[in-house]
Amino acid sequence: MNGQNKKLYIESYGCQMNFADSEVVASILEDDGFTKTSKCDDANLILINTCSIREKAEQTVRNRIKQFKKIKKQNSELTIGILGCMAERLKSKFLEEEKLVDLVVGPDAYRDLPKLVKETTEGRKAVNVILSKEETYADVNPVRLNSNGVTAFVSIMRGCDNMCSFCVVPFTRGRERSRPPESILKEIANLNSTGYKEVTLLGQNVDSYLWYGGGPKKDFSKISKKEQGHHVDFASLLDLVAKSNKNMRIRFSTSNPQDMKDSVLHTIARHKNICRYIHLPVQSGSSDILKLMNRGHNREWYLERIKSIKKIIPECGLSSDFITGFCNESEKDHDLTLSLMENIKYNFSYMFYYSERPNTYAQRKLNDNVPLKIKKRRLQEIVDLQREHSLFQNKLCVGKTYEVLIEGHSKKSKNQFFGRTTQNTVAVFNKKDAQIGDFVNVKINDITSATLIGEII
Ligand code: SAH
Ligand code: F3S
Repeated sequence: MNGQNKKLYIESYGCQMNFADSEVVASILEDDGFTKTSKCDDANLILINTCSIREKAEQTVRNRIKQFKKIKKQNSELTIGILGCMAERLKSKFLEEEKLVDLVVGPDAYRDLPKLVKETTEGRKAVNVILSKEETYADVNPVRLNSNGVTAFVSIMRGCDNMCSFCVVPFTRGRERSRPPESILKEIANLNSTGYKEVTLLGQNVDSYLWYGGGPKKDFSKISKKEQGHHVDFASLLDLVAKSNKNMRIRFSTSNPQDMKDSVLHTIARHKNICRYIHLPVQSGSSDILKLMNRGHNREWYLERIKSIKKIIPECGLSSDFITGFCNESEKDHDLTLSLMENIKYNFSYMFYYSERPNTYAQRKLNDNVPLKIKKRRLQEIVDLQREHSLFQNKLCVGKTYEVLIEGHSKKSKNQFFGRTTQNTVAVFNKKDAQIGDFVNVKINDITSATLIGEII
């Protein structure tokens, strides 16, 4: 153990998967003797788990590194390490660009951290950015960080094979691989026994989850009949998790339109404890743009998936991701995005303007030819329309009663709690005699575009 009497401070940026990974990292380093601290000034080891998805995300991390300069000046023994997607993307170049940094470790190399940290304490810089086809950290029991004790993320797969032309993730997180179902069930049973009430199953493409008894998945047709007989796909995984944890809520993220099967929808419909909410990123409403994005679905396919959701799970909450101003996007394409939104009226969405990422297909072969001003104007238009739709959806809730899982105190008032409905909409309400972690019935009296306001009945 080289972390004895040493303190680890870890900060995460980007997607939920990064936050879940940081919990794996904390577990690996605790086993090496480190204790975690929430104060970066106290730390012997500062780790930043980074995001590369858009240029702005990388800039945020770079600015944050600058802030650690002061601490490093006062403590020359301090090790500063970069984890996650920026580590993978920039590799040892990171050490040249940011002199403060001692350690660069990619998403599949966290088991190597104890050894690499040791190298830095001996005065060397250390890098491991090797991607794996098998690593799922299945046997690592994550240490919950900044936990509310109620909700937790559980990673079920890693990597992505989809190769959307704008996306850096397949390069930074490598090939898709699924975690053994027993280890997923064990982690959730553990959470359940320590009082957690909700888990979110995480993957870049959860509908593509597939386990058949070993090795990286893929090419199902090439595996033996016997193995196929024992396979677990996403629908059966959901079923297993829901059945063995009836007192818990189950969520998942993210689904991809081309892989989302009706069997998953039927599984949701069958289980009361699987949340009625699907995040189904569309990116654009124009089939021409979706083709350039290499999305594997067009507008019609997407709308057909939405139709299936509404038929099989009528009360399902829906959200999406959008990118405006992708290569060659015309006003007509943009209008198609607006009309798709009008058609679906999502509960909420995550919206971005296109940010070209190094080495992606789009960067190599397409022209980032929509001027920034237009990208931003189109973004504003979809943000405004989404706000209208959120308001519309929330208004439909007034007068109705929803089961809400209490997650914590409301930001605005000490006398109020906040929680989520099964559709993933946030509700705030007076505490009465309820407690964090309780399921309560909340009658909705008022709304904003982001929040339901109600009372416990
Ligand atoms: N499948 C993943 C998607 C990760 S990226 C998941 O689990 O959610 C999240 C979102 O970021 C994407 O859906 C897309 O809308 C956006 N995004 C990805 N690359 C981008 C880029 N180059 N520019 C702008 N937005 C991007
Ligand atoms: Fe990225 Fe598309 Fe995978 S958005 S994470 S390549 S599904």
